[in-house]
Amino acid sequence: MLPLLGGQHGGRSSMTCLYRCGNACDHPVPNTSANEYFGDVVAAEVSRRGLLQAAGAGAVVIGLAGTAVAATAEPVLAHGTSETQGWRHGHGPRPLTFTSVPPNRADAITVPDGYAQRVVIRWGDPVLPGAPAFDVHNQTVASQERQFGYNNDFVAVLPLDGHKEHCRSALLVANHEYTNEELIFPGFTGHDALTVEQLKIAISAHGLSIVEIERIGHSGAWRLVTHGRRPYNRRISALTTKFAVTGPAAGTASLKTAADPTGRKVIGTLNNCAGGVTPWGTILSGEENYNQYFVGADGAPAEAKESLARYGFATTTRYPSGSRKWDRADARFDLAVNPNEANRFGWIVEIDPTDPDSTPRKHTALGRFKHEAATIEIAKDGRAVAYMGDDERFDYLYKFVSHKKYRPGQRKHNLTLLESGDLFVAKLSYSSPESEIDGTGTLPSDGAFNGGGVWLPLVKDGVSKVPGMTVEQVLVHTRLAADKIGPTKMDRPEDVQPSPVTGRVYVALTNNTARAPGAKASADEANPRNNNKHGHILELIETHNDAAALTFTWSIPIVCGDPADPKTYFAGFDKTKVSPISCPDNLAFDPSGNLWISTDGNALRTPEGLSLNDGIFATPLSGPEAGHVKQFLSVPYGAEACGPVVTEDGRSVFVAVQHPGEIAGATVENPASRWPDGDFARPAVAVAWRPDGRPAGV
Ligand code: FEO
Ligand code: CA
Ligand code: CA
Repeated sequence: MLPLLGGQHGGRSSMTCLYRCGNACDHPVPNTSANEYFGDVVAAEVSRRGLLQAAGAGAVVIGLAGTAVAATAEPVLAHGTSETQGWRHGHGPRPLTFTSVPPNRADAITVPDGYAQRVVIRWGDPVLPGAPAFDVHNQTVASQERQFGYNNDFVAVLPLDGHKEHCRSALLVANHEYTNEELIFPGFTGHDALTVEQLKIAISAHGLSIVEIERIGHSGAWRLVTHGRRPYNRRISALTTKFAVTGPAAGTASLKTAADPTGRKVIGTLNNCAGGVTPWGTILSGEENYNQYFVGADGAPAEAKESLARYGFATTTRYPSGSRKWDRADARFDLAVNPNEANRFGWIVEIDPTDPDSTPRKHTALGRFKHEAATIEIAKDGRAVAYMGDDERFDYLYKFVSHKKYRPGQRKHNLTLLESGDLFVAKLSYSSPESEIDGTGTLPSDGAFNGGGVWLPLVKDGVSKVPGMTVEQVLVHTRLAADKIGPTKMDRPEDVQPSPVTGRVYVALTNNTARAPGAKASADEANPRNNNKHGHILELIETHNDAAALTFTWSIPIVCGDPADPKTYFAGFDKTKVSPISCPDNLAFDPSGNLWISTDGNALRTPEGLSLNDGIFATPLSGPEAGHVKQFLSVPYGAEACGPVVTEDGRSVFVAVQHPGEIAGATVENPASRWPDGDFARPAVAVAWRPDGRPAGV
């Protein structure tokens, strides 16, 4: 096995940095706006003091809100439910009973004693009937179009039969965030040497897959259904699947190209990272680091370059680092020829997994940035609220509030909810004096990193709230628009997940090593560490616990890292009992309201300086166990842990194992990981369960 070379950024291998986000951390921070970093400006809409008093902030704010947010669910499939349902009705708090998995470097999924795990589906497994058996030495576009794509990140599990808690059949939805051609094609010698067929295989390996899975016996284990009609199975391919564009920017000049003069039809979706399941049963997926797929931004029109640079496109060179050079397969990836093609990615996409003939949609009303994901909460008046992070150093936290109201059971109506609404970006204010935030992670004298905040409007009631920008400009160039109104620069906002039990909203801020003392961007109370290698979790409570509120309070329950490090914080829990955790990324809840966290790029090291695997962790958020973070599993060598999903019956934990063995120097022939089959590395979705039949985790 290849040794794990030191990651360039945190715990990531340099190979992951290259292919995952085009070495984003090597480039200057795209946000060069002059926003203030310290919370001495509070938007006029709210008095910070009044806000904090109203919410009783000033102490560590963690625990059940007491008021569950009412959200009526509707059936997803004929008799099924979405992954968010059932949890609303709760199982009541249950402590986490498993024994923590110790940090390790195993080339395996490691689960606690008393648990089992197995692979459900892996890159190349059949999705559509007639898919050929996977042969790494004989890959074709035609086969990849029918097989599971590469590098799964988001996972959803949607019950297919009528038994919500003990369903025997379900749809598994997974996305395919990015490719690593060095680990896909045997004999890889460089992107210039790939054939056009190989380039198209890689494009096709992006997108999403929807497959039917079945429970094994009465256990918490699941397997892929490989026979029969499988009517829902679908490959959403970046090469061939047609998307419709909705919302105010659809059909505008910014989205028109020679190939699509309507500006309403886009081929494919790219770099789909995390996502969400809507209460009406559809899947939302975020287009994240799509900039890296394009070449020729240096040759784009001068007037386009400000926005291109703000989105991380390489505007001074034809080929960004690690360029896949897809322009050899399709000229739309050459911005010197098709500059508007860049504007057709960077959206939240919505897919209806129950209708394999439906056209997936890109919703411009939710803004364009490096979307990590979108998760839906229903406001007290019934409007649908989407929480969204823009995953870049010093970028922002957003939310969308639909104009129309969610109507339980009215599917056709609900499918239009994300096509029109208001868009906001978060500005946080701080309870402690700036002088008490020293950038080390030391708590201020009031005992908490906490404060208030306001949702600043970008577009409201169909009108731009950004001086000098039209609605079209705000939605297409959302980062530039937000820069003008002064939101809070965050440490890479990843997944944003409302608790289905309390309605409180949790934000994974994965890391930001560019925050530094003396620089323009030094620590603030909401991002309280300079050189933030390990990230933190932010809890946000909307005023009156209403997702449509314009103000909120926040606190930081967890400051990640080695619990022996004084720069960490675990809601005041005894740190000697806490698992080390680094770089929180995806968030989920179990039926008891425990928070589950997957990590990406574990920056912790063994005493010898060797990297440690990523994993899935869980922690209660209320009661005496609040902050007792425990590691539930670890993923194989070189991989990132994604998903996770804890099923409604609590008996199965799905994990997406993204980029196993992605270590600089690894190849198909000389792999750094041989997971899962002992030959070469294949990204896969796996499930962990308790053979004794009891719920997982609790
Ligand atoms: Fe694809 Fe923000 O991680
Ligand atoms: Ca404080
Ligand atoms: Ca992510």
